[in-house]
Amino acid sequence: MASFITQSHCTVTTPVAQICTMRGRRILLIVGGGIAAYKACELVRLIRKAEGAVTCVLTEGGAKFVTAMSLAALSENPVHTTLWDLKDEVEMGHIQLSRQADLVVVCPATADLLARMAAGIADDLATTLLLATDKPVMAVPAMNVRMWQHAATARNVARLRDDGVAVMEPDEGAMACGEWGPGRLPEPETILAGIRQMLDAEPVAAEESFAALSASTIPRQFAPALDEDETAAAPPAEAEPAPPLEASGLLLPKKGKARAAPPTDPDALDRNVDAGPIAEGPPNDGPLRGCHVLITAGPTHEPIDPVRYIANRSSGRQGYAIAAAAARAGADVTLVSGPVALPTPPGVRRIDVESAREMADAVKASLPADVAIMVAAVADWRTRDVAADKMKKRGSAPPALILTENPDILANVGASGRLRPQLLIGFAAETENVIANATEKRKRKGADWIIANDVSGDVMGGHANTVHIVTASGVESLPQLPKDEVAEALVDRIAAALAAD
Ligand SMILES: Cc1cc2nc3c(=O)[nH]c(=O)nc-3n(C[C@H](O)[C@H](O)[C@H](O)COP(=O)(O)O)c2cc1C
Repeated sequence: MASFITQSHCTVTTPVAQICTMRGRRILLIVGGGIAAYKACELVRLIRKAEGAVTCVLTEGGAKFVTAMSLAALSENPVHTTLWDLKDEVEMGHIQLSRQADLVVVCPATADLLARMAAGIADDLATTLLLATDKPVMAVPAMNVRMWQHAATARNVARLRDDGVAVMEPDEGAMACGEWGPGRLPEPETILAGIRQMLDAEPVAAEESFAALSASTIPRQFAPALDEDETAAAPPAEAEPAPPLEASGLLLPKKGKARAAPPTDPDALDRNVDAGPIAEGPPNDGPLRGCHVLITAGPTHEPIDPVRYIANRSSGRQGYAIAAAAARAGADVTLVSGPVALPTPPGVRRIDVESAREMADAVKASLPADVAIMVAAVADWRTRDVAADKMKKRGSAPPALILTENPDILANVGASGRLRPQLLIGFAAETENVIANATEKRKRKGADWIIANDVSGDVMGGHANTVHIVTASGVESLPQLPKDEVAEALVDRIAAALAAD
């Protein structure tokens, strides 16, 4: 059964058997305006069936052939159609979209889309995120035979392949327009096989797999337009001199400045952290005996200068209670803890960290684990620059803090390939639409369960919690309970889930 991808030339000669799961892999699917767009719906269905996550972007042309509703229903995700979405763009939606996937697939890739891609045009959402992405791109052309054989299309395809885009060869056969020849969209199963090959081509071997989302793991044959340095977590001093704080005023994100805010920090993923000793505890017996359970807890502190930091109200109590309950259930527990004032639970190995990047390091160094429970309230952002000396008051203008994104620890563990824990659980602290947001987060982060809690009251720092356990099969809501009892209930369900597997 031969099937291969050569450098930026994606040829799948035979569909590969659909044995292995695509669990945790994320596809951004751009659907162009061709008659074959209906096959993109089937492709979405197949990716979902293989447990991959798919987010669709529908071009204006694509929307003439299939509806956003069909793609949304099949993908179980919102469909994006416009660059001019105020809500999304406040958060630099097109940049985020282009970076959150493991692979960007253009299917069908119309002659027009191929031409715009080859020319570097960015005049709609699809082409803008294709320019902005730091992930491998695969294009699946479909068009009339004359269009495919036209010198302009051949030139564009050659240019795209030179640029590192994997362009699949179209099938040959009778076309919707009545002509015969190459230009047909390959069958969705064949495209899925090509996607699997692209994903497999990414170096997600054990040691590297945690960093699968980071730009540094993009295989050279799919080299993006940006240098590795530029996609790394902001060496901003070189990439872009920081404006003087006094003069910069309120800084909002600007288009084209996203390199200062990558989703992951490759640098941070390569350090090792020493674990502390295991606090003496109960004999290693119980339903989780033999399981390594990795837990994060507490807030993170993101330094601004030597005396100031960005933090949140997390006390660490819920994570510590879960660590204690897991240890009582016989698990070998590693607790990666942000700064908290709590004693180490008996039988627990504790690693102290301060910042999100240190936490990401410690989590990586603690894998593999059978179960990972990411309870910590990790700061989404840190300041791009940390002042070496205490910042002083100067005149009346307060300093502007330029923020950059921290690594997404939960998503990174979800994408850690062979090191992915059998059961990955995230916490979602929400103040509104608690269950809906958690349901969406579960899919987006590649987690098995999300424990949603409404933190609009005094949950953060308090002793009680009301949680909803969101899984693939539904939502279980627990009544308000002391955090110790929430922990016991959760550990019971984890033990039952592992026993059922
Ligand atoms: C009925 C019909 C079918 C079409 N099929 C194709 C096609 O299969 N491939 C293609 O490249 N263009 C096709 N086109 C032309 C594209 O729709 C047109 O170039 C459009 O601008 C492409 O939009 P996009 O860049 O968003 O993909 C078709 C047009 C019509 C009206």
